[in-house]
Amino acid sequence: MTARKSGNDAIELLLDDHKQVRQLIKQYEKIHESATADEKQELAEQICSEFLLHADIEEQFFYPAAREALEEEDLIDEAEVEHASARDLVAQIQSMQPDDPMYDAKVKVLGEYIEHHVEEEEKEMFPKVKKAKLDFDALGQEMMQVKESAQAGFLAGDKTAEGKGQRRSPRA
Ligand SMILES: [Fe+2]
Ligand SMILES: [Fe+2]
Repeated sequence: MTARKSGNDAIELLLDDHKQVRQLIKQYEKIHESATADEKQELAEQICSEFLLHADIEEQFFYPAAREALEEEDLIDEAEVEHASARDLVAQIQSMQPDDPMYDAKVKVLGEYIEHHVEEEEKEMFPKVKKAKLDFDALGQEMMQVKESAQAGFLAGDKTAEGKGQRRSPRA
């Protein structure tokens, strides 16, 4: 009932996430040569958790709705395969030490996967879904709720230890 985000539809919510994760990826590229292992790990962990939460929300809410709305489901199938590959890489990164010689390469390739994937969503999937008749507001609300409670849990659980001031506050 507050002014907050109730007008934000599902696609806007996803676009915000894309922007956020892209920024993190760019930041990693910029700092990885001079950063400490801890700094790199913190940033990589942020990229991974942003992506995982986003992918979960898409898979649970947005993609099923898009499947129903679209005639052709190829785009959604491909998107799910892309999520799976990215998740795989996320799992590898999360199980590595940041001083591993392959760490930067893995994070870089994850960034490329994500970049390619969000670009396809933005250029192909979202425009098609937009044309379909979906209740984006209701879907957006649902997605926002899941996201906020997941973020609250993440903050409370503090799974990456030490000063988490960096995480974005759950949108103003
Ligand atoms: Fe996606
Ligand atoms: Fe996405």
